[in-house]
Amino acid sequence: MSSHRTTSDRRAPILVTGGAGFIGSNFVLEWLAAGKGPLVNLDKLTYAGNPENLASVEANSDYAFVQGDICDAALVARLMEEHRPRAVVHFAAESHVDRSILGPEAFLRTNIDGTFTLLQAARTYYGSLEGEEREGFRFLHVSTDEVYGTLAPEDPAFREETPYAPNSPYAASKAASDHLVRAWVHTYGLPAMITNCSNNYGPYQFPEKLIPLMIAHALKGKNLPVYGDGQQVRDWLYVVDHCRALMTVLERGRVGETYNVGGGNQRSNLEVVTTLCGLLDELVPESRFRPHFELVKFVEDRPGHDRRYAIDARKLESELGWRAQESFETGLRKTLEWYLGNAAWVEHVTSGSYQHWVKQNYDARTAAAVVAESAR
Ligand code: NAD
Ligand code: DAU
Repeated sequence: MSSHRTTSDRRAPILVTGGAGFIGSNFVLEWLAAGKGPLVNLDKLTYAGNPENLASVEANSDYAFVQGDICDAALVARLMEEHRPRAVVHFAAESHVDRSILGPEAFLRTNIDGTFTLLQAARTYYGSLEGEEREGFRFLHVSTDEVYGTLAPEDPAFREETPYAPNSPYAASKAASDHLVRAWVHTYGLPAMITNCSNNYGPYQFPEKLIPLMIAHALKGKNLPVYGDGQQVRDWLYVVDHCRALMTVLERGRVGETYNVGGGNQRSNLEVVTTLCGLLDELVPESRFRPHFELVKFVEDRPGHDRRYAIDARKLESELGWRAQESFETGLRKTLEWYLGNAAWVEHVTSGSYQHWVKQNYDARTAAAVVAESAR
């Protein structure tokens, strides 16, 4: 890619961080499919980053991949100088709540220090821009609804004004990163925006998260580990709808603003697993594990487990005209069909260290549930 572009040139690239992860890779694929111009993807390729997700665009001349860490200040600064991006879309993070409980350090490093490093580089780069290049530059920080904490059953959904009350190390690290972005807007005038999104699901999600984990386990006839009573509620959004929301905010969002993103699909975990098992029974009729619901096993709860999340996305809808296009039922069917059609992908990501993670996170939980059951 040439280093002499200006923002007024429609071919100026965007710099994406964490583009080999779940949401990032869906975003990269959607962006390139829509012909929105060149994109540079900076990703460290942790356990959650998978170049296989992007195999279909590897040869695309609009796509460039750089393996590296967002905490590497020299690298990040060099990428900005070299590629002169018209925007930064920041996905890179440690993203799994259970991992943050077992080992919070990496979350503080990547989510807080990494965001700080990027903000500093963006600030210096932005300071060097002039004219249309400067006017058009944007920093989009991709965040989560978990920063708002937990809701009681009758509470109204999270709004952009809901006070922050993060409960897990993951949520606290994301909240800290949001505050840094806010401060960089307020103090240094960095043209940044924040999106806070609810639970995503869809293709390429690593099977440590609820939906892909349940699919991967069910296909192998393994237990489906439901935490606690399974009545925790999440507000599910199909990942492509999230990507469309991000593109909308990037194009038309107001600098300094926060936009909540959600699908209006509140479901308890048990409802999600029940629906998924029904779909598996239908789409895999030859399975010897039917009915799949019989694989469900209630296991020890997640410490500090947030009871309910729900997003009020009216600001994004009314101000920028975004609407989720996928219902939970159509999205879940599409997702399951994708996993069934991509058995090799599932096989690759669930071998090796993944097995270690499953042991680490689930063995003690399952044992504790057995002890609790026998004491009853
Ligand atoms: P993911 O864990 O699937 O992917 C994270 C990506 O970041 C991986 O490719 C990983 O290699 C990369 N990465 C991690 N540390 C890095 C570092 N130090 N330097 C460079 N790259 C690094 O995460 P995801 O589910 O795709 O989430 C992406 C973003 O969206 C995160 O910021 C997350 O907080 C946010 N988010 C996720 C959800 C969700 O439901 N998954 C919902 C709302 C917001
Ligand atoms: O709300 C947005 C957040 O959604 C994102 O910011 C996070 O990055 C993403 O991981 C997700 O967080 P959750 O903790 O809600 O997602 P997870 O898939 O881990 O869990 C969803 C619910 O299912 C939660 O209540 C815990 C429960 N669960 C999860 C797993 C992995 C189980 O009951 N069993 C499981 O094995």
